[in-house]
Amino acid sequence: MSNVTYQVLPGGTLSGSVRVPGDKSISHRAVMLASLADGISEVRGFLTGEDCLCTMKAFRAMGVRIDQLAPTHLRVHGVGLHGLREPPHALDLGNSGTSMRLMTGLLVAQSFPTTLVGDESLSRRPMRRIVEPLLQMGARIETTPRNTAPLRILPAAGLKGIRYRSPVASAQVKSGILLAGLYAEGHTEVLEPEASRDHTERMLRAFGAEVEAEPGRAALQGGQKLRAADIDVPADVSSAAFFLVGAAIVPGAELLLTDVGINPTRTGVIEILRRMGAHIELRNPRHFGGEPVADLYVRGGALHGIEIGHELVAAAIDEFPALFVAAACARGETVVTGAAELRVKESDRIQAMCDGLQALGVSALARPDGARISGGRLLGGTVDSEGDHRIAMSFAIAGLRAEQPIRILDCANVNTSFPGFAELAAGAGLGLRVQE
Ligand code: S3P
Repeated sequence: MSNVTYQVLPGGTLSGSVRVPGDKSISHRAVMLASLADGISEVRGFLTGEDCLCTMKAFRAMGVRIDQLAPTHLRVHGVGLHGLREPPHALDLGNSGTSMRLMTGLLVAQSFPTTLVGDESLSRRPMRRIVEPLLQMGARIETTPRNTAPLRILPAAGLKGIRYRSPVASAQVKSGILLAGLYAEGHTEVLEPEASRDHTERMLRAFGAEVEAEPGRAALQGGQKLRAADIDVPADVSSAAFFLVGAAIVPGAELLLTDVGINPTRTGVIEILRRMGAHIELRNPRHFGGEPVADLYVRGGALHGIEIGHELVAAAIDEFPALFVAAACARGETVVTGAAELRVKESDRIQAMCDGLQALGVSALARPDGARISGGRLLGGTVDSEGDHRIAMSFAIAGLRAEQPIRILDCANVNTSFPGFAELAAGAGLGLRVQE
């Protein structure tokens, strides 16, 4: 698994029209809510990345029939809020923090015990942030002494709604609490320091639930049922981000990314790239169900460094690895602050990106909550993705501006979020070869 290496040759470009795979966040939620709904739901554009497949397998293990009519087309036979069955084994959620934190929220309300496990990276990630509010609601959860997975979830006598002020802006935490809140007595409310992505709130509504939602706050009343709904998943803006940055840093490149989700809680990458001087147009805006989408046209040119403060972080949280590459190609300095969350993602993304950029000859200084990157020449060399899909894809894109080849180690996990990345990128003009 860990021996996939990317080799990127200099001199590539990006052009044409690209449709990246379905949104990861929305695909997870579609399987979860469709499973808990009454009736049959269809999901189109489902992301067949390993993270979402872990969610699908977990629900199948709990007795939900999910037919894969085509790789990205699911028919989910919902069992209702109380229809899940005890799985015959621990649920292995692989690399997927979203699966673990959201599922913990809904599993604390079940009448059977479950054990959630993950890979080495997921087993290091902080779970206290979701466990703590759920315990306040009356849940019973056992963790390791370091508040990490495996999580052992035990049936509880009854959950009570809470008003929870989350110390972190995290859609995973917010969503886990809201899912528990569906089963709780009374009202459940989550307040956040910055607005995190609101896909759960939008999709709960699509499944017939009443949800109060505004930036930084979400609430619902317990005891509501979900009704089956059909979901069309937009292309993932977080996957599109690699192509947006890739085209933006190559003068003369021109690319169209189709059907991309442009939910305002996710479009920080577009805002930040525009502030750096990138030319990005939103064409043909429309809706896929409750989610806004558009085709994104990007034209390469000169970028300049900027200051990126905490107010821009939540809406671009997964795009910082790619944005660090944009900063390395920009004129002047880019300073990122208020982004300490990057240290507890699939890898420590601040450290992994700064180490990799330095290996390519870029001045990149890691700070506790961000980095200071001086744009300039990218030479070439070997970087370690640390098994993090987004670090691997970011350095692949860096190859567009490097003077020498870049070797990227440990790239197998690209499949967690972006199956087919190498083929799609090579087809658009990146000089990328995969070595197994
Ligand atoms: C996600 C939320 C984000 C993001 C992750 C997906 C989600 O995490 O980094 O890739 O689907 O809710 P946090 O909510 O923990 O910031």
